[in-house]
This record gives sequence, C-alpha cells and structure tokens, in this order.
Amino acid sequence: MKVAVFSSKPYDKAFLTSANQGRHELVFHETALNTTSAILAQDCTAVCCFVNDQLGADVLEILAKQGVKLIAMRCAGYNQVDLNAARAQGITLTRVPEYSPHAIAEHTLALILMLNRQLHRAHYRVHENDYSLDGLLGFDLFGKTVGVIGTGKIGATFARIMLGLGCRVIAYDPFPDEALQTAGVDYVALDALWSQSDIISLHCPLTPDNHHLINADALLKMKPGVMLINTGRGGLLDTKAVIAGLKSRQVGYLGLDVYEEESDLFFEDHSSQLLQDDVFARLLTFPNVVITGHQAFFTREALAAIADTTLKNLTGFEQQDRTLMHLIESP
Ligand code: NAI
Repeated sequence: MKVAVFSSKPYDKAFLTSANQGRHELVFHETALNTTSAILAQDCTAVCCFVNDQLGADVLEILAKQGVKLIAMRCAGYNQVDLNAARAQGITLTRVPEYSPHAIAEHTLALILMLNRQLHRAHYRVHENDYSLDGLLGFDLFGKTVGVIGTGKIGATFARIMLGLGCRVIAYDPFPDEALQTAGVDYVALDALWSQSDIISLHCPLTPDNHHLINADALLKMKPGVMLINTGRGGLLDTKAVIAGLKSRQVGYLGLDVYEEESDLFFEDHSSQLLQDDVFARLLTFPNVVITGHQAFFTREALAAIADTTLKNLTGFEQQDRTLMHLIESP
C-alpha cells in the first residue's frame, strides 16, 4: 500500500522505516498536511499524520478525490480531525492510543527536579567557572505533597514514581483508580488539591469543560510558592494568569512541555527568526520557569511503539483485519 507520511522528521523516517520492513511504500514529506500540500498524497491509499497536520473538511475532500481511503494518525489525539467530514468522504481513521506513559511521566519528574535543584542555572554557572551556591537552594521531595490532576495511564505512572520518592500523593479524577488508592494515593476534591499541594501536575485531556483549569481563582487557593507542571495540554493553564502569579511569587516554579499557542512554535527551528509571541517571551524571562517543546513523549521506546502501532494500523486496513487496527470511531 502506498502511504504519504506528512510532517515527517528524520526520527519518524528512521522508526517507521524500521517497523515497516519494506511491506508498504512509505513516501516521506517534511511538510505538514494542508490544502496546498494535500496534492502530495496523489496515488496514495493512505496518509500518515501528526499533531499539527490539518485535517478539516477541505483537506479531507481533496484527499478523498485523490483516492485516499485511510488516515493513520501517529499520535493519540485527533482533535484537529473533522470526524463527520471523514465519515462523509468514506475515509477510515486510526490512531495510536497508547505508546509509553513512562516517557511522559519521567519527563514530568525531570522538569520537577530541574526546577527544584535549579539544574538549568547550575549547569551554566559551572561553565563560567562559578561554583557559588547562592540562589540554588532546593527542597527535599521526600514528604512533600504532590497533586495529580488526571490519573489515567500517564497520571497513574507519575503518581507511582512520586510515591516511590516518598511523597504524599493526592489526586483529582472523576474516575478514581482503585489500584492507585491501594498503592497510597488519596483522591480529593479540586479545592483540597489546590490548597494542600506543594507540586501540582496536569495529566488530564483538554476538553471544553477544563479549559484554563488553572486560572487566577485556582491560583489564589494554592500554597504560596507552589510548583506547577504541565505536560498535558497548553489550554489547561491560563498562561497570563500564571505569569501574574510568577510576578507576585504565588507561583514559585513553572515547568511546561506544552503551551497554549505551541502550534506556531514547537517542533521547528525558528532560531533565525524574531519571536513574535510576547506572552511566551515573558515566560522565558523568569529564572524559575523551565520550558521544553512538547518533547515529553520523545523516547526511543515511545517512538518504536508509535511506529509499530501505526504499521499495524496500515496492515490491518490493507488486510481488512479490524483486530489489528486502533480505529477512531465516528461520533
Ligand atoms: P488517559 O485517557 O489514560 O487518562 C486521562 C485521565 O484524565 C482519565 O483518568 C480521565 O478520567 C481523567 N480526566 C478527564 N477529564 C478530567 C478532568 N477535567 N479533571 C481531572 N481528570 C480528568 O490519558 P493519558 O494517556 O494518561 O494522557 C493524558 C494526557 O496527556 C493526554 O490527554 C494528553 O493531553 C497528554 N499527553 C502529553 C504528551 C506530551 O508529549 N507532552 C504525550 C501524550 C499525552
């Protein structure tokens, strides 16, 4: 089967080619999928897409006219896909619902440790022959209270890591996980989580209901100097409110792997351009803010799992074997 792979980076090409083992004809395109680039899928039965590819009704119509029958998302989320238009065009959709919760949970811990022990600042000091410790004072994680919002695959993995470090872990999730409770996690109401946590970490999906879950009101209920970590989705956190919190020192530390307006920034090298996003630019001025560009998923194990499931989805479609496929069901 001929497959156009959009938004493909060298690492995508390496992992997908290895998982493919020559079975399908994979044609890699660096460009993102949109109405202009959709022509590249001519003669292809399938396209393979990532988080910033456009899959609105206009693009789906062009793909369908060119004979595309399958869209294989190589990620879990599919909020940018017009599901009704895909169904109307007779296009099948698949995704990778799970790859490595450890990748994201461990990156979350990396952000916490980096902020707490000021590793970003310590690294540069040593390179400047400056071994002074002033300003690098951290705190023991042991005994601190960590609030986890969303205890699905990633949140549960993260909660167990923090229990292992001797933290008290409290959580908020509309569907509590009994095994986690047995392991020592206490489920509490959101207000209790805000007021009791030394560290708060977001691991729930972004929905219309929880947009700006962390806002000015929530910040007021938190412990002064709280550490906030967001590896979930940018829209869960009101960035401007958190900047005000950083300025007043209500927020003591901020670690982000996702950002509300990340689609204009992340995954690309903009180092020769001027940064146009003033809110993001302000975040970069704080010594107690660490940002990574949506890289929490980026481990060898996660990329191998993404490639493996994507290839199963392609082969399952070719063989019309639904047991191999992870279908995105129509609404
Ligand atoms: P999951 O579906 O296994 O778990 C999500 C959990 O959140 C569920 O237990 C659900 O009940 C809970 N939940 C839903 N709405 C909630 C709310 N308003 N408040 C509290 N809990 C709520 O999902 P998984 O695999 O654990 O992923 C979680 C999120 O992590 C994803 O939705 C995605 O946004 C983000 N993610 C980030 C990545 C990165 O590279 N930074 C990579 C993969 C996922």
